[in-house]
Amino acid sequence: MNPLNHVAIIMDGNGRWGLRYKKSRNAGHKAGLSTVEKIIKETIKHKIKFLTLYAFSTENWRRPKKEINYLFSLLENFLLNKIDDLNNKKIKLKIIGLKNFSKKLNKLLNDSEKKTFKNSKLQINLALNYGSKSELINAFRNLKKSKKKINEKNFKKYLQTNEIPDPDLLIRTGNTKRLSNFLLWQLAYSEIFFEKKLWPDFNERDYNRVIKNYKQIKRNFGNI
Ligand code: FPP
Repeated sequence: MNPLNHVAIIMDGNGRWGLRYKKSRNAGHKAGLSTVEKIIKETIKHKIKFLTLYAFSTENWRRPKKEINYLFSLLENFLLNKIDDLNNKKIKLKIIGLKNFSKKLNKLLNDSEKKTFKNSKLQINLALNYGSKSELINAFRNLKKSKKKINEKNFKKYLQTNEIPDPDLLIRTGNTKRLSNFLLWQLAYSEIFFEKKLWPDFNERDYNRVIKNYKQIKRNFGNI
């Protein structure tokens, strides 16, 4: 059975779910946040050490202002209300992506990271204003500047996921089969599961089924 140390998730389908059931995309994001909470609990049950969630991409800035504002207000409230709970559960929060938000939000993100820094039960990497191509370009730039030898080992040190093992498993919900500029380097050997359900409908049973199927895959990393 395959060990499972790191799960990454592209939580797609909130907008469609909201429009279908509540006539508003934002209602889908709110429902999506409940799924996030369920999946965190289940991840702990499985003793998985890393969970990376794609919450906002660099491309998501193209969305209407009203939706962007709503997403960030959800995030703010989530951190304000739940960070102590996460901390009590010994969860470490790390933000990956460019933290160039308002002063207030940057502070909240930094404080949340600091508060949970020493925890080691589960690390949640929240990808916020994250784009893999710009992460790669920055890494190349910094490696070149360092004058160190250009090889995989040195390159990885300049990624934002430095010190995080690559995902074993990527799940994308929402019946779309693409990577959307998410962890392009890190997913090189991950097992990928595309799920038909929209993110707010994805539940513990679905997650457990994916994990069970993942564990039965023969992973050979290019070997035979
Ligand atoms: C993609 O669905 C989802 C997002 C861009 C945002 C994800 C946010 C959440 C799950 C809630 C907030 C999470 C935290 C941790 C505060 P989409 O809107 O692209 O859906 P669509 O493809 O149906 O339009």
